[in-house]
Amino acid sequence: MVKKRVKVKWNRIFKPVNDCKKRYRILKGSAGSGKSVNIAQDYIKKLSDEKYKGANLLVVRKVDESNRDSTFAELQGAIYRLFGEDAERVWKINQSPLSLECKTTGNRIIFRGMKDDKQREKVKSISVKQGKLTWIWIEEATELTEADVDILDDRLRGELDNPNLFYQMTFTFNPVSSTHWIKSKYFDTKHEDIFTHHSTYLNNRFIDDAYHRRMMMRKERDPDGYEIYGLGNWGEVGGQIFTNWEVKEISQNPNDYEYTSIGQDFGFNHANAILTLAYKDEDIYVLNELYLYEKDTNEIIEEAEGKFDKKIHMYCDSAEADRIKMWKKVRYRASGVSKEQTTGKKYINVQIDWFKQRRIYIHPSCKNLIKELSQWKWKFDDKTSTYLDEPVPFFDDAIAAMRYGVEPWRKSKKLKSMDISKFGF
Ligand SMILES: Nc1ncnc2c1ncn2[C@@H]1O[C@H](COP(=O)(O)OP(=O)(O)OP(=O)(O)O)[C@@H](O)[C@H]1O
Ligand SMILES: [Mg+2]
Repeated sequence: MVKKRVKVKWNRIFKPVNDCKKRYRILKGSAGSGKSVNIAQDYIKKLSDEKYKGANLLVVRKVDESNRDSTFAELQGAIYRLFGEDAERVWKINQSPLSLECKTTGNRIIFRGMKDDKQREKVKSISVKQGKLTWIWIEEATELTEADVDILDDRLRGELDNPNLFYQMTFTFNPVSSTHWIKSKYFDTKHEDIFTHHSTYLNNRFIDDAYHRRMMMRKERDPDGYEIYGLGNWGEVGGQIFTNWEVKEISQNPNDYEYTSIGQDFGFNHANAILTLAYKDEDIYVLNELYLYEKDTNEIIEEAEGKFDKKIHMYCDSAEADRIKMWKKVRYRASGVSKEQTTGKKYINVQIDWFKQRRIYIHPSCKNLIKELSQWKWKFDDKTSTYLDEPVPFFDDAIAAMRYGVEPWRKSKKLKSMDISKFGF
C-alpha cells in the first residue's frame, strides 16, 4: 500500500544502480554527485514495497555516531519526499536508538559503526524481528578496513523465503586513494557479483551554479583534490595535515570544559564558518558548527540565532572590521584576531604545530569541519616529489574558524591562571 509520491526526483545516471541485484554494488564518485541521496531514496522505495517484504537494511559508517546527521537524515529526508504528509503514517521514525520501520511492510533499517571492537561486536550480534538482514549500505566506505567489510559480508547469508529478495552490499565513497583496497578488490578485478559505478557532480541535475563555480575554483587551486572530489577519479590525498582528530559524541554543556570560545571565518563565495570550541586537559573540542555559502551578514546572524551562546567570546578575522561590528551590534562578544608576528616559521605553521600537540574531538554534527579536515593537505612539489610545509589553500573555512577560535588559548602562556571570564564563563 505505497501512498502517493510527492516530491521525489531521480538522477538518471543511477538507474542501472537501482536496478542492480548483484551482491556488491560499488558507487565511487565526486563530491555532490548525488550518490547518498539516490541510495537513500532507492532503499526507502524498496523497503516500502510489499514486493520486498522481509528485507532489512543495515546502514554502516566507520563511526556510528556519524549516522544521525548523515545516513539517518538522508533516509528520513527520502521518506518525507516519497510520502509527503503521509510520511509518519507509513514510516516509524525512532531517534533513540536510531531506527526506521516501515509500518506497511514491517521492513526495518538499523544503524551501526565499525570504529572499535565494541561496535564490531554489536554488528555481529544483530538480529532482525521479521525476515532477514538482506542489505547493507556502507557510507564513506573508504573509511572501513577490508576486515570490517568481511565481518559485514558474513552477515548476509542463509535461505531467503521471499523469491524477490537478494543479498546486497552497497558502497558509496569518494575515491581518495588509488592504493585503496576497494580499488584492487572491486575495480581491478572483474567478477559477476561486482557492479561498479562512477558519477560526478556534473551528472547531478540538482547541483546549483554556485557549487559548480566552487568546483572550478578548486580545479585551479587544488588540482589533485579536484581529480577526486570534482571528477571522482582515483587520486591521492596523501600529505594530510591533521590526523589527530576524531568524531565523538561530546558534551554540549560549557560547564564540562575549562574554557569555551566561538571562532568565525567570514565568507560569501567561500563558506562562512562558525564553530563553538572548548578546551579541557590540553585538548580541543568542537561542539557545533554553522556553515553557509552565499549569505550576507544579516542572513548569517539570523541563522546563528539560538545556536551560539552570546556570552561566549567570538574570535574572527580582524581584517573584516565592518562585519565584526555587525555581530557586536546584535550582542555577540565579537573581536578580531590579528596575525601574530612570527620568526622563522610562518604564522599558519605555528598554529598547525600547536594543534598537533593535542587531540581534537569533534561532535558528529560538525559535518563540514570533518570533511575539510579529512581533505586538508600539504602542497606537493612535483619537481622534488616531496610535500612542502604549506597547506593547499582550499576548502579550509571551518578550519580557519577553528584556528581563530583557539587563539586565546594558544597565545596564552599560562592558560590555567588566566581570567576565565574572558572566555565566556
Ligand atoms: N534525487 C535528488 N533529488 C533532489 N536533490 C538531489 C538529488 N540528488 C542529489 N540532490 C542534491 O545534490 C546534493 C548532493 O547530493 P549527495 O549528497 O547525494 O551527493 P554525494 O554524491 O553523496 O556527495 P559526497 O560524495 O560529497 O557525499 C544534495 O545535497 C541535494 O541537494
Ligand atoms: Mg554522500
